[in-house]
Order: sequence, then C-alpha cells, then structure tokens
Amino acid sequence: MSTDEPTTPRMHLAAFLNAGPQGTVGWRHAEAGDGFLTAAHYTHIARVLERAGFDMAFVPDALAVPRSLGGSYAPAVTWGTGTPRLDPVPVITLMAAATEHLGVAATVSTGYQEPYHLARGMATLDHLVGGRAGWNVVTSFQDAEAQNFGQEKLPERQERYARAEEFLEVTTRLWDSWADDAIVTDKESGVYGRPDRVDAVDHRGRRFAVRGPLSVPRPPQGYPVIIQAGASPAGRDFAARWADVIFCSHESLESAVAFYADVKARAAAHGRDPDQLKVLPAATTVVGTDVRDALAKHEAFTELVHPEAGLSRLAYHVNVDLTRYDLDGPLPSLEEVGVEGHYREVVEFAEREKLSVREIGRWYGARTEGNMIGSAADIADTMELWLDRGAADGFMIQATHVPAAFEEFADHVVPELRRRGLVRTAYTGGTLRENLGLARPERGEWRNRAAPAAKERS
Ligand SMILES: Cc1cc2nc3c(=O)[nH]c(=O)nc-3n(C[C@H](O)[C@H](O)[C@H](O)COP(=O)(O)O)c2cc1C
Repeated sequence: MSTDEPTTPRMHLAAFLNAGPQGTVGWRHAEAGDGFLTAAHYTHIARVLERAGFDMAFVPDALAVPRSLGGSYAPAVTWGTGTPRLDPVPVITLMAAATEHLGVAATVSTGYQEPYHLARGMATLDHLVGGRAGWNVVTSFQDAEAQNFGQEKLPERQERYARAEEFLEVTTRLWDSWADDAIVTDKESGVYGRPDRVDAVDHRGRRFAVRGPLSVPRPPQGYPVIIQAGASPAGRDFAARWADVIFCSHESLESAVAFYADVKARAAAHGRDPDQLKVLPAATTVVGTDVRDALAKHEAFTELVHPEAGLSRLAYHVNVDLTRYDLDGPLPSLEEVGVEGHYREVVEFAEREKLSVREIGRWYGARTEGNMIGSAADIADTMELWLDRGAADGFMIQATHVPAAFEEFADHVVPELRRRGLVRTAYTGGTLRENLGLARPERGEWRNRAAPAAKERS
C-alpha cells in the first residue's frame, strides 16, 4: 500500500447477496452456481469480496415465501423469485469466519420479534466476528410476512416506523447497558465484572417493556453498523437519525444526487455530522470487453426472463397484485405500496416510456437496480462520476448471477478503481466501522439518535 493512501477509501463497496437465488433469473444463467443451500457458496463469495477490498457483504431478507399474483405463493416457487431464502444471520457468520476483514451485514425486521432477541443476537455476532457486524433494519413490506406472525395485514407505514423507532431505542440502550470497562476478570481477587458499570434499561413504552441489562457485554463496535433503506419521508427521517449507512436505488444520477443531498441535510438537521452517514446506491454491473460486448451479455441475460416472472416480482415488491388492473392500461397510482422507492422508480420509467402494465411487468422482471453496463473503464467512469457529483459514498454492488458476476467485478472493475485510488488495496481498520470511516458510538449515543419524544422521557 502506498504511504499516501488515505485511511479510508473514497469509494466504499458493499455486495448485495441473496441467501438464495439472485434476482428474477439469476439462477437460470448458464454460469450461475447452484450451491446457495451450501456453506461453500457463501464462503467462496466472501473470499472473492475480501480480495477485492469490499467493506461488507450484505444479505437481504423477508420472512415469507412471497405471495404475488392472485395472492398465491405458486409464482415465487415456479420462477424462483424471492424463494428459497435462508436465514441470513448464520450465513453471514460463516462468511465472516472465512475472512479476516470483510464486514458482514444481515437484514432483520423490527416487525416480528422483541428488541432483546435482536440486541443479544447482534451483540453476540459482533463479538464473535471481531467487530465486523452490521444490521440492516427493515420494517418489512409484505402481508405474507405479517400472516406468518398472527396478523392479517402488514401494519400501516406510520405504525411500522413507530415500532421501529421504539425498537431501535431499546436495542441501543441494551447494547449500552454494559460500559466498555465493565469486565475486569481479576483472577487474584475473584472479581469478574463491576456491577456499578452495568445498568438496567427499565424501558416501559407503548410496544415494549424491557428491564435489562443485556446478557452480552457491549459490542466491540459499540453498536454494530446500522443500515437502513427507507425511501419514504418517514423512512428517510428514521434513517437520517439512526443509520450509519443508507442503501438506495435510483434510475438516474439526478435522482441520486437529490436523494443524497436530502438525507445528508436531514442528518445535519438532527445534529449529526453528515459524513458519518454513508449513502450507497445500488449498482448492477455487467462487464464486457467493450460496451457492445457488455450490452450483448445483458441482452442474453434479459432474454432469460419470463414475462410472468416479472409481473410476479413487481407484485411482490409493491405488495399489490397488478393483474387486477387492465394489463394493457397504464400503471395505476397507488397510495399505500410496500417499497415506495421501488414503485416511484417504476412509475417514472413507465411514464417516460409510455408502458402498459404488461410491458412494465416484462421490463421489471429483467430489471436490475442501477445498471452499469460497459467495459471495466466505462463502469469505473460512471462510478467515479457519481462520487464526484455528490450522489454516493460508494455502491452496493448487485450481481446478475453469482458467484461469476462478483468475480468479474473483482477481477476487472476493482483493479481499474484501484488504479484511480478510489478503492482500498489493503484494509486499514480493524472493525467494519473503522473501514467505513465511522466513529465508534459512545455509551449513551442512543440519546442523540432517538426521536425527540424519547429524549424527553429519558
Ligand atoms: C436497496 C434496498 C434493499 C432493501 N432490502 C430489503 C430487505 O432485504 N428486506 C426488506 O424487508 N426490505 C428491504 N427493503 C425495503 C426497505 O427496507 C423499506 O422497508 C422499504 O423501502 C419501505 O420503506 P419506505 O416505506 O420508507 O419506503 C430494501 C429497500 C431498498 C431500496
């Protein structure tokens, strides 16, 4: 590593990796591996990502086999979209065990478990992986998930975020219940820990009552890295206060610039240093020898998509069955949709291209987020432009198929990014926070992040 290389790179890289088939047709690709129910699949990818200097691998999740067209789970099973899906926490634990530096993040919903469970699991993970753990906080977006937990329908967005707010408050307070110096392990005196440095939580809120303290000492990172991807105003506000990293997806540089400015301004308005909130838009890269070669590869990939699989995927993402509308009519405008960000993009694209529901279904099935298609140099140019224009602090790399698309990115695009000094050649930090250039939260940091009402209560 050259001596003038900065402590943290300008461009952070995360990898979006399903614990199951990738995207709508990733499993169908001729070069796709079929080992997604095996440990070897994930440990191999972890090593590829670490070799390429990625900050972290990230695993999304949902707590149901998606029910899409006609409210049935059949399309998800038929087309392999959104199912099968392994529990992400054991998956990322394996990935961390196979590497030394790679951060690992799992998606866990705030909707269907108690904060104590989450706080304990994530604190345990952060200890075992030496401070490399991250948690993607989601509020869930499908009725099918609610129906696995005794509810008929997904709660309204406002209630989902209110629950997430209280969930985060309790979780971070549990992580803070042990001071960093609470354990003394003094063999001579026989004193293991200092009870005056371990506090109860005594939280009594609308949704949770938690006495504490946690049974696990404070995580090495203070708080594991907190990730969020809410796109609605409520989601952005939540992320601007609680998140260390925001994931997003944009169809244009302009919308990415606007989003970046918006969430950084929201973080500043809450008294945070905006640089302590990293924004990583999705980028699906298709690398070729030149742009023609890359476009041909992308075309071959999209030809694998069955149109019905596309409509089914869209139905699952926006939590509505669009086959109830006129397939040859325009996309309806819907008030309450699952992933507002996804739907907004779809509407923008459908209006611009004047597409019907049917055509949108076809497009959506083949669609990958934030396409970057071209030679390694073309892709590096685009990524650098997004950094220069204030649209990103890095990217969440999505693969059309795994592991090959990650290998291509690591072998071709990363060397180009390294030549430009944008991506690390060696890890400088010990923890995921350090690699991301994020400060370790002091004990009590939750007060700075919680909504004003919680601060008054404390
Ligand atoms: C890039 C990206 C990845 C996401 N990953 C997940 C996920 O793995 N599981 C999940 O339940 N929601 C996921 N979501 C959904 C968001 O967490 C959030 O719930 C959704 O955007 C709705 O929030 P909103 O109401 O603020 O728009 C993702 C969203 C985006 C943009």
